[in-house]
Amino acid sequence: MKTILITGANGNLGTEVVKTLHTNGYEICATVGPGSLPDDFAQMTKDARNVNLTDEAETQQYVEALTRQNPGLCAAVLLVGGFAMGTIKDTDAAAIDKQIALNFKTAYFVVRPFMEHFEKIGGGQFILVGARPALDAADGMTKVAYSIGKSLVFHLAELINAAGKGKRITATVLVPSIIDTPPNRNAMPDADFSQWIKASDIAETIAFVLSDAGRTLRESVLKVYNEA
Ligand SMILES: NC(=O)c1ccc[n+]([C@@H]2O[C@H](COP(=O)([O-])OP(=O)(O)OC[C@H]3O[C@@H](n4cnc5c(N)ncnc54)[C@H](OP(=O)(O)O)[C@@H]3O)[C@@H](O)[C@H]2O)c1
Repeated sequence: MKTILITGANGNLGTEVVKTLHTNGYEICATVGPGSLPDDFAQMTKDARNVNLTDEAETQQYVEALTRQNPGLCAAVLLVGGFAMGTIKDTDAAAIDKQIALNFKTAYFVVRPFMEHFEKIGGGQFILVGARPALDAADGMTKVAYSIGKSLVFHLAELINAAGKGKRITATVLVPSIIDTPPNRNAMPDADFSQWIKASDIAETIAFVLSDAGRTLRESVLKVYNEA
């Protein structure tokens, strides 16, 4: 049985990813937000903890203890992220700092100790979540802080892939369009939800990336846009 870490595991996407990967036989260590957990969560995870991943020291301590207790941990699926609207005119330093913290630092603070762990065990996979506004400025110009925060995630993946070459360490970036979640439906009640990407379909894509065939991917950016 393969052991993996999923961060943001009780979020809208995380809940589906936990379900799918549990069904596929993975042993799951999870970080969760402070909110309540779905009923079947404890049964699907080996270890579920509330960790503030914007806190570098807390995250480092958590990952070091986790990898000591689970030396076979072979993948980190890093789903934590935030979102904010705002043009350049609306976006001040605090807004940029917040989105960098939520979207980039929450990944980077896990990646740093995990790189050392993966080198020790002879390889491992990171799965990161980008967003289209970081790739498409016409989309990003109304989500400036968010697009800047997410653009760093793509660069982090490139740095991991460069440093991990020859060590069987890879990073894959998934890029959802609009995920079909209750908050998005509430925010955009008149949209055609069938064009959005289902969290369960992203979860299946993650399952593929973690499979034997998926493990051969390097430098991959997977756009899971559906029709949105
Ligand atoms: N939703 C979309 O349409 C969309 C589109 C493109 C990309 N994405 C990206 O996809 C990923 C998942 O999105 P989602 O819609 O599932 O988001 P979500 O429902 O807001 O889930 C985010 C998760 O991260 C946790 N979290 C937030 N701050 C944290 C912190 N400082 N430390 C530890 N955990 C923290 C949250 O816990 P609490 O809720 O308890 O705070 C929650 O479990 C994100 O990276 C997002 O940017 C989403």
